[in-house]
Order: sequence, then C-alpha cells, then structure tokens
Amino acid sequence: MSVSNKSHRGTIFIEDARIESMEIHAEDQFIIRLYSPKCAKKALPGSFAHIQCDNEILMRRPLSIMRVNAEDGWIEILFKIVGDGLKALSKKKIGDILSSIGPIGNGFLPNEKRPKTLLIGGGVGIPPVIFLAEILKNDRQWDPLVIMGSEIPFPFNITKRAQSISWLEKDINGTMPLLEAWQLPVILCSLSDINGSFRGYVTGIADRYLGTLDQSELDRTEIFSCGPMPMLEAVANLAKKYNIPCQVSLEEYMACAVGGCAGCTVPIKTKQGIAMKRVCVDGPVFEAANVF
Ligand SMILES: Cc1cc2nc3c(=O)[nH]c(=O)nc-3n(C[C@H](O)[C@H](O)[C@H](O)COP(=O)(O)OP(=O)(O)OC[C@H]3O[C@@H](n4cnc5c(N)ncnc54)[C@H](O)[C@@H]3O)c2cc1C
Ligand code: FES
Repeated sequence: MSVSNKSHRGTIFIEDARIESMEIHAEDQFIIRLYSPKCAKKALPGSFAHIQCDNEILMRRPLSIMRVNAEDGWIEILFKIVGDGLKALSKKKIGDILSSIGPIGNGFLPNEKRPKTLLIGGGVGIPPVIFLAEILKNDRQWDPLVIMGSEIPFPFNITKRAQSISWLEKDINGTMPLLEAWQLPVILCSLSDINGSFRGYVTGIADRYLGTLDQSELDRTEIFSCGPMPMLEAVANLAKKYNIPCQVSLEEYMACAVGGCAGCTVPIKTKQGIAMKRVCVDGPVFEAANVF
C-alpha cells in the first residue's frame, strides 16, 4: 500500500462491521478489531470510520483507523471512553455487528523529497501515527522517528528498545512492541512517571531531535501529528521554528461526517483568504501553517 489520497476519493462505504476482538487497557482505553473489508481496502493513515456505537444512540462517533489488513478485511481502532457513545461501544461483545461508514477524510501525505519523517501522536491521536508508521516502514526510502505522548498508561505493554538513540539518555528506552517489531525508533513521553519514557512534552523531545539535524537534514524533514489541539499548536510552532512543513490531523465534533451538514467546519487559511473547511471531508489532515 502506498500513501496517496487520490485513490481515496469517492470510496466511502457503509458496512455492517463484525467485532473480531476487543482488548481492554488501563483508564478506559480499548482496541477493537472490526471485520470491515471495504474500509480496510481503502483506508489511509489519517482517515477515520464513523461508527454507530449502539442502536439506542443515534449519533455515530468518528474514530481514527489505527491499522488495517486488507487481505483479512479488518480495521483496528483505539478509543478512550469520554461519554455515553464510547461507553456503549466498550460494552459490545465479539461477534456483535456495528454499522460503520468509512474510510472518511483526507489523510497524511508524505513527500518523497522529505524522507525524514517525524511522527508525533498524543493520547487518542496516537492511532493515525501508528498507521502512518506501518506504511512508511514498508518502504526503505523513509526514515521515520515516532514520538508518542500520554498522561495515562499507554495502551500497550512497554518494552525496551533494542537500538539506542545517540542523542538520547540511555534510560529513555521504552517503546511499543509492535513498532519495535517493525524496527522503528520510538520515544515515549509523559509528565507522569512512566518507566522508560521522557519526563516532559512530546514537543520537548521533538525540539531536541530537530536541534541535532543540520540544515540539509532539516530540508529533508517533515512533521506529521495528531493529538489534542494545544499539542498540535505547540507542534506547529516547532515546525515554524525550524522552518519545516507539518501536517496535523484535527478533531471536531461531527454529525454527518460525510460533508453534508457543515457541522464540523474550522477556519483554514487558503490563497483566497480564510475559508471555512469541513474537518470530515476536507480534512481531517491539514497543513499546520494553514490552521494556526
Ligand atoms: C476525525 C476524528 C478522529 C477521532 N479519532 C479518535 C480515536 O481514534 N480514538 C478516540 O478515542 N477518539 C477519537 N476521536 C474523538 C471522539 O470521536 C470523541 O471524543 C467522541 O465524541 C467521544 O464519544 P463519547 O460518546 O465517548 O463522548 P460524547 O458523548 O461524544 O461526549 C463527549 C463530550 O463532548 C460533548 N459533546 C458531544 N457532542 C458534542 C457536540 N456536537 N458539540 C459540543 N459538545 C459535544 C458531550 O457533551 C461530552 O461532554 C476522534 C474525533 C475525530 C473528529
Ligand atoms: S460533520 Fe457534517 S459536514 Fe462534517
């Protein structure tokens, strides 16, 4: 699979998705695997599914696609309960059927001229970053570094990174087993005391990393980020400081999620001035410089 948004147009499906597995993690975090073969075939990093969590709850909830397996027809989603919708979803059982619309939205678009990709995910913004990492690891031209932040336990068992990172303290060596298996360098960050993680913000460690690069390396670097708005703004400021491009994936409350209701619009800078863009179908990924 390559990363191109062209193949994503006109390909949103409504499917009865069967729950294949449900992992329960600390602090009301869940990883759910859905059999949704049409969505699995067309999803790209940054795209999302709009899921009916329960028959009693009319409004669907938008959830990023974290992983797909087009051959086996599944998609994986990580969610954290906020309110009634995701609470209802967390109570579902293996074999239950959920109505799912997806994949929706324009995802991250890496630029081959900038193979040094810095992927930054925070909290429930981690899933699109994992999806992008999986795509990039399949092609040796890319040189990704993944930074993940969380103030609650990460939704995986932290393992020790085999490779050290030259500019980083040796004891900041925690990583996600899946990405370790893919041999991708990961740095975990948290203000909470999480073993093997950097004590601070994702932008603190990203700043240190970018500071190690010379100008020719910076000219080949791009940032991709998803997470809470204050984190995205800090990431955008960092990109500005180093004068490198940055793509951010936004979250907004959604009703239809297919471009019909204008319920999810945000002001975006365009050549013609500020325009209201729909996060669901014009995004959720935008150039950071056009958002902040
Ligand atoms: C593109 C996209 C991708 C996302 N990906 C993920 C993901 O991968 N994992 C994840 O966990 N979350 C993700 N989210 C966020 C998730 O969709 C929301 O947090 C979701 O609303 C939570 O549902 P809930 O039923 O738990 O809480 P809700 O019942 O939606 O309530 C959450 C809070 O928001 C308020 N609220 C709800 N709707 C509105 C509205 N229209 N206007 C104002 N306030 C409102 C409620 O009153 C409540 O306080 C994503 C959002 C977007 C837009
Ligand atoms: S949610 Fe209806 S246009 Fe985006």
